[in-house]
Amino acid sequence: MQYKYAKTLLDYSDLASGRVFHSLPGHPAFPVRLASEIFQRCMANRERIYKDSTPCSLYDPCCGTAYHLSVLAYLYGEHIREVIGSDIDSKAVTIAKRNLDLLSIAGLDQRIGEISQLLELYGKDSHKDALSSGHILKNRISAITQEHPIITKVFKADATDRTTILKNIKPNSVDIIFTDIPYGQHSHWQSSESNQLLNPIGSMLNALTSIISSESVVAIVSDKKQKVSHESFQRIEKFQIGKRRVVILRPI
Ligand SMILES: C[S@@+](CC[C@H](N)C(=O)[O-])C[C@H]1O[C@@H](n2cnc3c(N)ncnc32)[C@H](O)[C@@H]1O
Repeated sequence: MQYKYAKTLLDYSDLASGRVFHSLPGHPAFPVRLASEIFQRCMANRERIYKDSTPCSLYDPCCGTAYHLSVLAYLYGEHIREVIGSDIDSKAVTIAKRNLDLLSIAGLDQRIGEISQLLELYGKDSHKDALSSGHILKNRISAITQEHPIITKVFKADATDRTTILKNIKPNSVDIIFTDIPYGQHSHWQSSESNQLLNPIGSMLNALTSIISSESVVAIVSDKKQKVSHESFQRIEKFQIGKRRVVILRPI
C-alpha cells in the first residue's frame, strides 16, 4: 500500500500511548501514521463526493481507549467539531473518557498536574518527557480551541445495538466513522446478547445507518478474514497494510 497523504514518517512521540494519553493493558495502540492516512482519505472522499469540507463529527463504535480518536483530534482538530466513542468494554470506556478529556485545556491542565506530581515523586526521565509533551499538546489544543471547542462524548454500547447508539447520538448526525474493529490476538467481537454474532460487521453497519448522515464516509479496519460489505453501502476504497485491511464505504 502506498501512502497517499501521510507520505513521510514523522516523529509522533508526543502522541505516544502511555505518555500523556492513557493506555490499557491488552489494548495495543493503533499506528498514528496509518490513522492519519485513513482520516485524510475519509476527508478527501467527503470533499470529492459531497463537496463538504466543513468540520466533521467523527465516531468510532469500537473505540477501545479512544487512542486513535484522540490522536486524530490533535492532528486534525481544525477539521473536527465532535469526537464520539463507544465500546462494549466498561474498562476501555473509562480510559476512553479520560483520553477524550485531554482534548480540552482543563483536561490537559489536570493531566499536566498529575505528571508533575509523578516527576516530583520519582524524578524519572519518562515523566520529564511526558511533561514536555503535555505542554506541547496544550499549545496545540489552545490553537485548535481558539477556532472551535472539540465536543466529546463516550458511552458504553454494543456496536450492533441500534437502540443504545440512538439514545446517545442524534439521527443522521455523524459525518465520518473510523473504526478499528476487533480482530485476532488482542480483541474479539463480544456480544451483549447471549447468542454469538453471526455477521458482526453487517449488524454493526445496520445499527450505524440510523446515525450517519446521508453524506457520510465510513472507514473500517479489520483483518483479511472479515468481509466488509452491506447492501446499504458502496465501497469507495480498499487497501491492505501488513495484517490490516482498510475498507472505505459511503451510504447508497
Ligand atoms: C482493535 S480494538 C480498538 C482499539 C482502538 N482503535 C484504540 O486505538 O484504542 C477493538 C475494540 O472493540 C471492542 N469490541 C468488541 N466487541 C464489541 C462490540 N460488540 N461492540 C463494541 N465494541 C466491541 C473491544 O472491546 C475493543 O476495545
